[in-house]
Amino acid sequence: MDFVHVTDLGSDGLASVLQRAAAVKADPSASAGSRTGLKVGLFFEKPSTRTRVSCEVACIDVGAAPLVLKQEEVGLGKRESVEDVARVLDRYLDVLAFRVFDHSNLTALEANAEAPVINLLSDLEHPCQALADLQTLAENKPLSGQVVAFVGDGNNVCNSFMLAGAAMGVSVRVTGPAGFDPPADVVARARALAVDGAEIVVTDDVESAVRGADAVYTDVWASMGQEEEAAERRRLFMPYQVNENLFGLAADDGIFLHCLPAHRGDEVTDGVADHERSRIFDQAENRMHAFKALLLTLTE
Ligand code: CP
Ligand code: NVA
Repeated sequence: MDFVHVTDLGSDGLASVLQRAAAVKADPSASAGSRTGLKVGLFFEKPSTRTRVSCEVACIDVGAAPLVLKQEEVGLGKRESVEDVARVLDRYLDVLAFRVFDHSNLTALEANAEAPVINLLSDLEHPCQALADLQTLAENKPLSGQVVAFVGDGNNVCNSFMLAGAAMGVSVRVTGPAGFDPPADVVARARALAVDGAEIVVTDDVESAVRGADAVYTDVWASMGQEEEAAERRRLFMPYQVNENLFGLAADDGIFLHCLPAHRGDEVTDGVADHERSRIFDQAENRMHAFKALLLTLTE
């Protein structure tokens, strides 16, 4: 089984990985050494701190060997076709985990490799992030029935969160400036997956989106590869900055989430990022537990 789209596991599979993530966090020793000899390729076409380190550590914890590969050396789609890279790595490795720009490279990899392919972020989705996001939300209160405001760009992180959240009964209100909504087909898929009365709302009214929310989630305004748009985006997105005033509209026990890295002073102020109800570093830690749970599941 692959994990290229956050929906690849199905709703039951997603729920069981989340349960497993909580279990491996509570008792890391139970899975220690359980994947000795497993070889996991971790490929990066873009920079990474959390994903690289949390995945490497998760592998080491279960006895698997992580092999980190960079685009500078592999030349995916440049030095060699994506298909041939998949066929070659498949002969050496048991899991292929890839961070790429173009999502279609992941679908080419999964079509040409027997080994499970994991998406470590593409222009379309960031499914491993969504696992950690849901794990962090579930540590606050039961997932089903929660309302989360995703404030800012309707990007890869937003897409995976919306899809996975809907499948777990989380209502997601996405709010950002006109022209930066999540893709309509992803919104439609999230609505189709929604259970327990979860609603997927897309609005430019930031205050109505955040009011009473159980969590406020934001991400950078310009994702990796969009750096040249940063100045123009800053102008358009500033009314959607998560500052103390906006966060004050959330529920009294509402938490703040950010996948990180954060551009403090842009999409979030220090006052919110460092707020007592900010859970951004728990969320970062949970990347490791969630990836471990995913790896254990895909290599059963
Ligand atoms: N959240 C996340 O994926 O962080 P990195 O880009 O540092 O891996
Ligand atoms: N949306 C961001 C997430 C980084 C983890 C990006 O793609 O750069």
